[in-house]
Amino acid sequence: MKKRVAILISGGGSNMIKLVESMVGSHPARPVLVLSNDPEAEGLKRAAKMGVATFAVDHRPFGKDRAGFEAELTRVLEKARPDIICLAGFMRILTPDFTAKWAGRMLNIHPSLLPKYKGLHTHARALEAGDTEHGCTVHEVTEDLDGGPILGQARVPVVAGDTATRLAARVLPMEHKLYPMVLARYAAGDRTLIELTQP
Ligand code: GRF
Repeated sequence: MKKRVAILISGGGSNMIKLVESMVGSHPARPVLVLSNDPEAEGLKRAAKMGVATFAVDHRPFGKDRAGFEAELTRVLEKARPDIICLAGFMRILTPDFTAKWAGRMLNIHPSLLPKYKGLHTHARALEAGDTEHGCTVHEVTEDLDGGPILGQARVPVVAGDTATRLAARVLPMEHKLYPMVLARYAAGDRTLIELTQP
């Protein structure tokens, strides 16, 4: 029985595209829903073109009512009966109630070598710190923002003269490689750490 995967996005969905493209043939999972908090998210159109069901729960009408937004998110998700949820460029902070409900079934990709640089502006912070390497991490989502058990990491060198944009552009292709690899293992019940290094 293939595992059912829902993917949450907020924007272009480049990671979502790679995840959807990877779930073919003998892969133990299949995408069942792409869900965004932004009805205009470009990734929704891309997912629909790939034949994946899409839905948007606009977070703006809920204002500061995170619980109300998440209740609607949960209603939509439960209809899709996901076994696994992948956050992929999803930019809303989730409450402990939501992360507890999906604990053990929800992954996220974060553009840093966690536990370094939780939160935003990770590439700029790595440059400001003078780091010689940077990268991305796939982890299980817990109530500890960007702090759950690490399932995979990919490392890239920081190059002299790097800007945050250039560094982000070097990390993103590694995200696209790492996330599908971790999902394939995770969907098969394997949580062995994956470590990639870009020369
Ligand atoms: C990526 O850098 C990812 O690490 C972060 O959001 C950015 C955009 O992701 N979570 P995507 O192109 O929407 O997948």
